[in-house]
This record gives sequence, structure tokens and C-alpha cells, in this order.
Amino acid sequence: MGRLPEGAPDGSPDGLTVFQGMYIFIPWNVILGTGGIIQFGRALELSPSQQLETNMTSRRGFLRVVGTSAVILAAGGVGLTQCDPMPEEAVAAWKGPAPSVKDPRVRALSFALLAPNPHNRQPWIADLREPGAITFLCDRSRMLPETDPYSRQIMIGCGAFLELLRMAAAEQGYRAEIAAFPNGDWPDNTVGDQPVCRVAFVADQSVARDPLFAQVLKRRTKRGAYEATPVSAAEAGGVEGVLNGLPVRFGWTGEPGAMNRLRDIARRAWVIEVKKDSTYLESVKLFRITGPEIAKKRDGLSFHGPFFWWMNALGLVSKETAMAPFARQQAVDLIEADLKTPAFAWIVTPVNDRRAQLAAGAAYARATLRATEMGLSTHPLSQALQEFPEMLPLLAEHKRALGLPAGDTVQMFFRLGRATPGEPAPRRPLTEIIRS
Ligand SMILES: Cc1cc2nc3c(=O)[nH]c(=O)nc-3n(C[C@H](O)[C@H](O)[C@H](O)COP(=O)(O)O)c2cc1C
Repeated sequence: MGRLPEGAPDGSPDGLTVFQGMYIFIPWNVILGTGGIIQFGRALELSPSQQLETNMTSRRGFLRVVGTSAVILAAGGVGLTQCDPMPEEAVAAWKGPAPSVKDPRVRALSFALLAPNPHNRQPWIADLREPGAITFLCDRSRMLPETDPYSRQIMIGCGAFLELLRMAAAEQGYRAEIAAFPNGDWPDNTVGDQPVCRVAFVADQSVARDPLFAQVLKRRTKRGAYEATPVSAAEAGGVEGVLNGLPVRFGWTGEPGAMNRLRDIARRAWVIEVKKDSTYLESVKLFRITGPEIAKKRDGLSFHGPFFWWMNALGLVSKETAMAPFARQQAVDLIEADLKTPAFAWIVTPVNDRRAQLAAGAAYARATLRATEMGLSTHPLSQALQEFPEMLPLLAEHKRALGLPAGDTVQMFFRLGRATPGEPAPRRPLTEIIRS
């Protein structure tokens, strides 16, 4: 495994010393770490040859970075490190619905939209025109065609959404009767414009409340380094226990040899995704850089804090600079923090149709809520599961490394361990997903 610079516990220098000496900005760490400048400011110390390369490839940019560092240090010195926080309105959904919201369907949707979902695309439409029911559709303008060519991950996000919807309905004394594909299945490997499901809200005071519901507002995807403390068999068993009854299998490991093999595959998969223009560009287009853009879009991958604010103001961090070879190489290197995990876990289905993908989404939602309940963090690493052609050999190798037959589908592969909680991810306002 590549060595990270000395410094903070995860091997990163602390947020302010980052900018002293020969450190340089790494855009991708916004994706890998969330929070304030300390996490966002993670950087790599450049070797002499890298410094030379930097000077040669982007001398002007480099000089501006060094100059900017002084400005940011000065800003920190005069108390501006709080500038460019996560906009409150972008994360308001994490407070739950206002008491003034009375329609049980709308209340339930307010929780459902907090579901984990790939690239935070939130591809959800809830049609409320039929009283007492929700017709749930997948928003085809929010797909990930390069990294998720068959929309498998998108469907997992939909499954997670429906599981939270079901829990939130039960909490209010409604049984959510979910009928998948009521107007017929979509053609293979496509997302149609027919509904994913119709959800009838049936009043039933005897419906079982789900204890996991208490974690919905607390759950976060946590990126960056995790503590080395092992995950116990009892903890992994606790996660597996909440998947009973779903048509999925759960696996996990913390065994050092297996962990190293899986880290190596995750690293190579990451390189493939970042080095291919179209797959990396798909993520870059979803970069939301600084508070105003985050507040406007409320989806995608958030970059904020004083560091990004200054870099953006100086033209050094933007969607265009992120595609430059130097920035991309740094993005490649930054996977190392995400490989610091004491355990990996995975969710597998024997078939890979739309219903199985929805079930995998429900399973992942439940697994991550149970982990939250136990004080554990989770973070999917999906690169090796992606079905674009260049990834397929690694997808097969990954499955073999997990000891699975070729016919199985690894729907989710994620880190499990202890870490300081991450910040909430933005959500679009409910009004944007409701049709009434
Ligand atoms: C199917 C699926 C795949 C995902 N893959 C990744 C991934 O490869 N890397 C990552 O950092 N997060 C991944 N995530 C997490 C999402 O980015 C995250 O759920 C989203 O940004 C919203 O943030 P939240 O979970 O904190 O609410 C994935 C989530 C789902 C449901």
C-alpha cells in the first residue's frame, strides 16, 4: 500500500499545515472526505520529481497555488476558516419534515429521500395524484450511463428509498403495500418510463414499527480513513441479522490477507475509472463546488470550505481543472485514505433483475442503518462492481476474491468500521420530486 505523509491520525497532514511548504491541492479529496477544511484539506507532499513535473506541466497554476496558500493561511489567522460552510438549506432535509406537513405520504417521502444513492443523483419521482397511494417512478434524466450502464446502482438507490418509505409509513401507522412494476416490467437493461412501483398507504395501527427508523436522520456515508479497530464477528452478525427475509446474501471479512487482496482490487478499479475520460467526466460533471453551487443543485458531490472557496475564486478548482492530467493523477492517489478500513462487507444476489436490485437497495439501507445504530460507519466502494467494458475483468476477479460463483452479482461492496461521523449530504427539496 502506498505510504501517506505523516500528520493527522489518518496519515494526512492537518488542514492548515497542508498549505505550508510543498503541498498542493488534490481536488478528489472532497469526494473522499467530507466536513470542513481539516478533511477537505488533505493533501499529498510532492516528491522533488513531482514538484518538477508540476512546475513543467502547470507552472503558472502551481505558483498560484503557493500564493493562494499564503492567502488561505492568512484567512485562517483572521478567523475566516468558517467561510463557505455547507449551506443549511441544502441539508435541511436531515431535520425531518416540519410538523405542518400532515399528508402521511409526504411525511414518509421526507424520510425516503434521505436514502443512500449513487453519486447522490436522487433519481426519484413520486406521483401523488392518486389519493392514498404513491406512484414511484425513476427519473431518467438522472442516470449514470458511463459508470452504471445498466442502471443497476440507480435501482439500488430506488430500493433504499422504498425501504425508508416503508419504515416511515409504518411509523405513522400505515402499512405500505408495495407492488413492483404495476404496469409491466421495463425492457431488459433499460429504465423505462413506467412506474417502478405503486405504494398503497393502508391505515393499520398494528403494523410493526421498525427500530432502524430511529437511525434514518443520523445515517451518513462516511469517506476517508477509518480507525484500525477491528469489526467483531458479533457486529458483522448484527448487520447481517437485519437482512433476514430479503432475497440477498451478506458477506464480510476483516482477515488481513483477504483485506489486502480486496484493497488491491479496489485500488486498480479506481485507477480504471479515473483514467477513462468518460467515466471520470461523469463524476466531474457532478462536482458541486462551493456553497452557492451546492445550495443551487443540492445533489452530486459537494466541495466546500475556505480552501475550495479560495481555490475556486482563483480559478484553480473547477470542473475544467479536475480533468487535467495532474489533478487526475492526484485523484488516483487519494484512494489510499479510503482503503484504510478494518473490514469490507458485501451484499450479493443470485439473480440480477430489477426486483433483485431493489431488494439489494433495501438490504443496503438496512445494513447501513444497523451499522449506524452500533456506532459503525459505512462507505460503498463501487468501482470494481461497475459494468463498463474496461472494468469487466476486474469485476470477475473481485467476485473470485470474494469466493463467489460467476453467476452471482455483487450488488454492494462497502467499508465497515469506526470513524468520526461525516457531514450530511445535500438533498433536493421534496417539491422537486413530487408530482401532484
Ligand atoms: C449503489 C450505490 C453505490 C455507491 N457507490 C459509492 C462509491 O463508489 N463511492 C462513494 O464514495 N459513495 C458511494 N455511494 C454513496 C453515495 O455517494 C451516497 O449515498 C450519496 O452521496 C448520498 O450521501 P449519504 O449516503 O451520506 O446520504 C454509493 C451509494 C449507492 C446506493
